[in-house]
Amino acid sequence: MDKFVINGPVKLQGSVEISGAKNAVLPIMTACLAYPGIYTLNNVPVLRDTTTMVKLLKTIGADVEINNSQLVIDTRTCDNPEAPYELVKTMRASFYVLGPLLSRFKYSKVSLPGGCAWGPRPVDYHIKAFKEMGAKVTLRGGYILAEGNLSGAVVEFEKSSVGATGNVLMACINLNEEVIIKNAAMEPEIVDLCDFIEKMGVKIRGKGTSELKVIGVEKNNNEIIIEHEIIPDRIEAGTFLIAAAITKSKLDVCNVIPEHLSIVIEKLKKVGCDIIENDKTITLIPSDNIKPVNVIADIYPGFPTDLQAQWIVLMSISNGKSTVEDTIYIDRFSHIPELNRLGASISLNDNIAYIEGVSSLYGAEVMSTDIRASASMILGAIAAQGVTSLSRIYHIDRGYENIEKKLNAIGADIKRVND
Ligand code: EPZ
Repeated sequence: MDKFVINGPVKLQGSVEISGAKNAVLPIMTACLAYPGIYTLNNVPVLRDTTTMVKLLKTIGADVEINNSQLVIDTRTCDNPEAPYELVKTMRASFYVLGPLLSRFKYSKVSLPGGCAWGPRPVDYHIKAFKEMGAKVTLRGGYILAEGNLSGAVVEFEKSSVGATGNVLMACINLNEEVIIKNAAMEPEIVDLCDFIEKMGVKIRGKGTSELKVIGVEKNNNEIIIEHEIIPDRIEAGTFLIAAAITKSKLDVCNVIPEHLSIVIEKLKKVGCDIIENDKTITLIPSDNIKPVNVIADIYPGFPTDLQAQWIVLMSISNGKSTVEDTIYIDRFSHIPELNRLGASISLNDNIAYIEGVSSLYGAEVMSTDIRASASMILGAIAAQGVTSLSRIYHIDRGYENIEKKLNAIGADIKRVND
């Protein structure tokens, strides 16, 4: 199994190019299943998760051509509306096929996703919504079976959910009746999904707000041809901005939509960094003195939970005390014991981390537990004195494209070694 050997501390410099967004491309790939057609997706990140999704689309009968960051997905031959446990257990986003398959085949059999590194992540909102849209939904042998004709409905989520909003949106694609989604997710990745399915003829009012009014199109089975550019990955961009701040380095982060990172930019300015926003580039000018800044991870446009771990490691070398609270995943803190192995001073009470800044981190052997936790450990290691060995890096490959190549190109010293 691969691991990273990381030497620190380093100074970064120059510019880094951000890839397409994992959490936008995954649902958009599944949306292609809803209607027979040829879909060309550009700016697709090359990740373990996109590879897993390609495998899943192929088991459903699609033909997928991969040309670097372009995917050509042909769903005219799809005939097997099922998602097997083997694939769903490796990637929860596989559950997104339920909506589009139900919309097209009036039937879908999808494995129930299990828990993840930090606890249960139920899909009850998805199931409740499909029932409210008229589907018969049953659980059999670890699989969700959803069947029947869908009809217009008002769906309201108890809490805003990215996945449930996406799944319901895709179930509407072939439904020529209005569905109103209340307390919908407003994340940029959901807006990108909306932009994509609008190209399939779906009418959406309220894009980017918490109430979506959606009317799909009763199709005549004429094939469609669509091309779409995936938005840049704001979480990857945020990770590199924090990499610059923690190593006190000046860095240009390119191919981004600065507006998607407003809250992160605001917080980095409070830390003491200067930020220059251009059209598609954010330049960070570091502060030698990292101020403690509290963060509460929340739904968009709040601070993203997917940058919570990276913020904690930055705060671990601030010159004071800070707190980081996560309101989305109250138990998403498996990175804390590992960061403390690097010499951080972090304690946890319920869903709030209490961080006491230390003057420096020190290299050690640490272990990845999930995608973003491993990113936080890489950030800690490039700022730490000495050598860090980070194992289980298959987690990071799920969500970051060539992270060590990108970091080494701007001055880091990371080697991928086979353990
Ligand atoms: C998406 O997960 C992202 N994954 C996650 O990113 C991200 O952390 C999360 O949204 C929040 O922004 C992808 O897009 C593939 P939710 P998702 O449904 O859709 C509860 C990463 O690192 N909930 O918005 O699964 C849930 O437990 C990943 O890239 C229910 O209770 O998240 C959580 O507390 C990690 N029942 C909250 O809602 C449901 O049916 C938000 O979850 C659905 C959700």
